[in-house]
Amino acid sequence: MSLLSWVDERFPASKLWKEHLAEYYAPKNFNFWYFFGSLALLVLVLQIVTGIFLTMNYKPDAQLAFASVEYIMRDVQWGWLIRYLHSTGASAFFIVVYLHMFRGLIYGSYKQPRELVWIFGMLIYVALMAEAFMGYLLPWGQMSYWGAQVIISLFGAIPVIGEELALWIRGDFVVADATLNRFFAFHVIAVPFVLVALVVMHIIALHEVGSNNPDGIEIKQQKDEKGIPLDGIPFHPYYSVKDIVGVGVFLFIFALVVFYMPELDGWFLEKDNFIPADPLKTPEHIVPLWYFTPFYAILRAVPDKLFGVLAMGGAIVVLFLLPWLDRSPVKSIRYRGPLFRWALTLFIISFLALGYLGTQPATGLYTIMARVFAIVYFAFFLFMPIYTKLDNDKPVPERVNFK
Ligand code: HEM
Repeated sequence: MSLLSWVDERFPASKLWKEHLAEYYAPKNFNFWYFFGSLALLVLVLQIVTGIFLTMNYKPDAQLAFASVEYIMRDVQWGWLIRYLHSTGASAFFIVVYLHMFRGLIYGSYKQPRELVWIFGMLIYVALMAEAFMGYLLPWGQMSYWGAQVIISLFGAIPVIGEELALWIRGDFVVADATLNRFFAFHVIAVPFVLVALVVMHIIALHEVGSNNPDGIEIKQQKDEKGIPLDGIPFHPYYSVKDIVGVGVFLFIFALVVFYMPELDGWFLEKDNFIPADPLKTPEHIVPLWYFTPFYAILRAVPDKLFGVLAMGGAIVVLFLLPWLDRSPVKSIRYRGPLFRWALTLFIISFLALGYLGTQPATGLYTIMARVFAIVYFAFFLFMPIYTKLDNDKPVPERVNFK
């Protein structure tokens, strides 16, 4: 008896392999936009592995944390590489995930029957933001400290319970050792655990309904006599091999950043974070890393603190609702009418502009611009049920075509 059949009688190894790889039929027309799911998986593994090694030398103690990171950079063998892989990995994670989400947006991958794939994705995104936010406190630099101070104090805007809640989250009256300890626990074990569990559910949900594709056609509707989708090809070996191309290009660019510009001029590692945290000295500009800045700009665009917090939260919550806001019968941008195309273009411009404005001081003209773009951002979702219904969509072909 072979080892495999011995295992198969006790654990569904071959069954899982077939169901999720060798006999998982994916549409034959995937393009480069479909690289980002597997790249997100790759970065997740990279973050966990480098994180384990960082934890071996990092000290979650307000007196020791900053110096322990410098120790990793200077004295631990290959410590600089492990840290730069992890810090660059954090930004790479968001780049890959934003592109992955954008793919969902242009091909309508959130629409029926993939609503839960999208919801699990959004939960991953929220968990990822929590993970990045708490990880950023750990080096205990000026921006770690003051960034956490600003964001946690936002909870204080909640009526009645706000101040107590902020105190409870910090574990002290200001960000302090207790905060660092609990953020370490969440960053190193609790949130990664949730993230991995969510990713498993995300993929199980996807494989239940099958992948969407750049044409937005449901390939399961056209099957051969064996029940195999006519426009489907086995994920392995076709896409397992194709994904290696994506991995190659990604690792090339990633290595360029890690080895030649790990700080990326303050975009991946902020300059102020090379100064140890000083509770008595507020930095001139407190700015989160780039992946939070669109939401930070929305927060600051609203004059009232409570409404600012609500607007920032709302900007994320509306994304969850996308499957129900979009009323078009068409999924892919290829067959959408002009209204959706225009709305999407304005949305992209507003998201990028907000991202930029979030890095700038919130003064006169910048604040006005942030307000305008925040309105465009929300209008995209708010009016979606109307313009997707009115739109002049094109007929969708029955089969995948490459013309
Ligand atoms: C750790 C983060 C994530 C990982 C590892 C991950 C992994 C994957 C993988 C492997 C696929 C299949 C390959 C592909 O279609 O690219 C996929 C598909 C998908 N993901 Fe994610 N994902 C993540 C985050 C997200 C987020 C944040 C969203 C949206 C909010 C999302 C939405 C989707 C959707 C809608 C699909 C189906 C796309 C289609 O069939 O056209 N994912 N994901």
